[in-house]
Amino acid sequence: MATVGISATGETNGTQPTTTVDVLIIGAGPAGIMAAAWMARMGLKTRIIDKRNTKVFCGQADGLNARSLEMLDSLGFGDRAWKEANHMIENPDEYGIIRRSDRVPDTPVGLSRLQQSTLHQGRIERFFLDNIKKYSNDTIKVERGVLPESLEIDQSKVEDQNAYPVTVKLRFLTEEEAAPRQLGGSKVSDGLFRSNLFQEADEDALIRQTYGRAGTGETVHAKYVIGCDGARSWTRTTLGFELEGEATDMIWGVMDIIPFTDFPDIRCRCAIHSATHGSLMIIPRENNLVRLYIQLVEVKPDASGRADRTKITPDFIFNAAKKIIDPYKIDYEVCDWWTAYQIGQRVGTNFDAHQRVFLAGDAVHTHSPKAGQGMNISMQDCYNLGWKLGLVCRGIAQPNILKTYQSERRRIARDLIDFDNRFARLFSGRPAKDILDAEGVSMDEFKEAFVQGNMFACGLSVNYGPSNLVLKPGNAEDQGDGSAVAPPSVAMSEADFSRKQALATGIPVGMRFNSFQVLNQSSAQPWQFQQRLPADGRFRVVLFAGNIHSAQQKERIESFCAKLDAPGSFLHRSISGGDGGVCDGLHSVVEILTIHSAKRWDTELLRDFPEVLHPFRKATGWSYDKVYVDDVSYHEGFGDAYKNYGVDKERGCVVIVRPDQYVAWVGELEDFDEVQAYFEGCLVLKDYKNGVASSPVAVSSPEGPVATNGISMPVR
Ligand SMILES: Cc1cc2nc3c(=O)[nH]c(=O)nc-3n(C[C@H](O)[C@H](O)[C@H](O)COP(=O)(O)OP(=O)(O)OC[C@H]3O[C@@H](n4cnc5c(N)ncnc54)[C@H](O)[C@@H]3O)c2cc1C
Ligand SMILES: *[C@@H]1O[C@H](CO)[C@@H](O)[C@H](O)[C@H]1NC(C)=O
Ligand SMILES: *[C@@H]1O[C@H](CO)[C@@H](O)[C@H](O)[C@H]1NC(C)=O
Ligand SMILES: *[C@@H]1O[C@H](CO)[C@@H](O)[C@H](O)[C@H]1NC(C)=O
Repeated sequence: MATVGISATGETNGTQPTTTVDVLIIGAGPAGIMAAAWMARMGLKTRIIDKRNTKVFCGQADGLNARSLEMLDSLGFGDRAWKEANHMIENPDEYGIIRRSDRVPDTPVGLSRLQQSTLHQGRIERFFLDNIKKYSNDTIKVERGVLPESLEIDQSKVEDQNAYPVTVKLRFLTEEEAAPRQLGGSKVSDGLFRSNLFQEADEDALIRQTYGRAGTGETVHAKYVIGCDGARSWTRTTLGFELEGEATDMIWGVMDIIPFTDFPDIRCRCAIHSATHGSLMIIPRENNLVRLYIQLVEVKPDASGRADRTKITPDFIFNAAKKIIDPYKIDYEVCDWWTAYQIGQRVGTNFDAHQRVFLAGDAVHTHSPKAGQGMNISMQDCYNLGWKLGLVCRGIAQPNILKTYQSERRRIARDLIDFDNRFARLFSGRPAKDILDAEGVSMDEFKEAFVQGNMFACGLSVNYGPSNLVLKPGNAEDQGDGSAVAPPSVAMSEADFSRKQALATGIPVGMRFNSFQVLNQSSAQPWQFQQRLPADGRFRVVLFAGNIHSAQQKERIESFCAKLDAPGSFLHRSISGGDGGVCDGLHSVVEILTIHSAKRWDTELLRDFPEVLHPFRKATGWSYDKVYVDDVSYHEGFGDAYKNYGVDKERGCVVIVRPDQYVAWVGELEDFDEVQAYFEGCLVLKDYKNGVASSPVAVSSPEGPVATNGISMPVR
């Protein structure tokens, strides 16, 4: 058996139980629980383990950006996070000699309906765990105090979709072994046990301790493994992959305190940039807490690259903060949490092994905490991976889509490192004395970086490159990530692409679908359109139907719908099958949603729209939740969706949206063939007879399934 990555093997204690799972997730931080949330949604048999026996109750990452909130909302608990969080709407953006210069909104206006907000990681984890419990019917639980001991990939099986090529041996720790040690020596809980400044407990020693005890091991055979085990990732090391990049010598202290201060903007996110004592970043939090990121100019790492930890105490860190904020005064009684950090800017060489073991989050990219992206971007990694893995594992999508995980996410990680490098340099540089001072950092430069940083930081500048999941011109392999991504299934010239993109200027291909208000055609209920794009594993074709009452436009719509409803159409050949989860057996994995622009009062759902846009099923009747209108709401005003999406109100257009809300394609109603090609290029299309798949071969069946009442009933 060809294997990779064996570590810490030792004598075992008798026979060990052996189990199989679809997906094993190692690490239950933000990345791991996001992965588990998708798996729960997709109905996969999943286990998630973590070596620590407690979740993080305070500290760590302190907030969510707009895109992260949209993701939580798509999973069904955005409202919980939103209610509890401290929203950051205004943001005085920089200080010279502690002089307020101007204020900017924290999230650029109009980019997202959700603004960035702060809430600690422990709460966010709680929301996730509740959600996972709900959707997995309590079958996916975080197993704590569990350490992986070895990981092997049987390369002879990686092409076989039914095989379990990955074998992971697990060891169970006792309460005591799994408890994180508090190294800081103070009464306040600290995060030093996870900080990169110090060595961690010896995991091999912990594993050895378990050998003596009966029943403390298990062998798991998995189809897929996701390593979400943080900056010192065991999974990454075991696979022999590395992080590239230099650790810089910048050290930062972090404290969560309730401050007593005369500093006026303590409740706004801001940065203080002192002449000689380094920089300080202030982030207001819930319950009157404030997170301070404090640059520690007086400690430097030694020759081995490690800092002297005896020096790093809350008093030492706070004294540095006092110097920076001078002439204002600051003090505190309550400190909730503290830690110290050495900034390393690194990105992983590989994000997967054989598309069977994946790495996500801090395991593949680390960067300075004050750019504040760690948690957001770690969750976003798994938001990108989760549905792909789910659809492939269920045989709905082609395995080659898994390659886009690395091509899409590694580039984002690298962009972040580039941004972070620039930001960190600006942050720890000294202010320029005057315009001729080339070494110093000018305030203009700093301010510009801060504003740009906000754009980047709210997570909405992500723009994925061409692949079989995003149809745009260009070379799929040109994304500098080293993975051989399948090319777009429709070859497009730049000119073709610009023509198509011009049909929906506010819906850029490769970026996430923005949200504006539309109304339910049947009930007039207002919706943020993004709320109709929940994370349930479905692709969506959004038909901007335009003016349905124009005869000419009606003809275009009918012609598009006839092709959509033809037996060979992807719609009738992408039925998800399976059991439970959101992919319930009768639904196509592609949902068709319509937004039209005629007056709602003049329009009738059943009269004016072809059946395929509001399909009928005997058990549930017609679908009243698929057709929306861009019209004025009784209570909520006008969303002006066509205008905001940049779509022509007469002619409309068609948009393909991926399960993670990223835009895959934009085109005309006449371009049905391209829509078909898109799904042929990424899904496994099958033929069905009476709802049962007859063959996975790409030939069209003579007729679609028909309901006994004679109404043509697409199984959807
Ligand atoms: C002091 C500090 C401040 C931060 N501030 C911010 C901020 O302001 N904004 C922001 O967005 N991010 C911030 N971050 C970063 C953020 O916490 C991380 O980027 C984020 O937690 C990464 O998520 P993750 O799931 O990839 O890894 P982690 O959160 O590190 O989770 C990894 C999990 O894997 C477990 N694990 C590790 N090894 C093993 C193993 N061998 N077996 C089983 N389980 C294992 C660990 O116990 C842990 O639960 C901060 C981090 C720190 C330490
Ligand atoms: C991501 O979350 C962090 C948490 O620190 C938040 O402060 C930040 O603003 C979000 N992203 C960014 C950097 O905007
Ligand atoms: C959920 O789990 C319970 C207990 O195991 C079981 O009785 C129930 O049928 C399950 N429900 C679903 C929808 O699977
Ligand atoms: C739209 O309105 C119909 C009719 O009232 C209702 O059955 C359906 O649930 C609504 N759906 C949404 C998403 O508003």
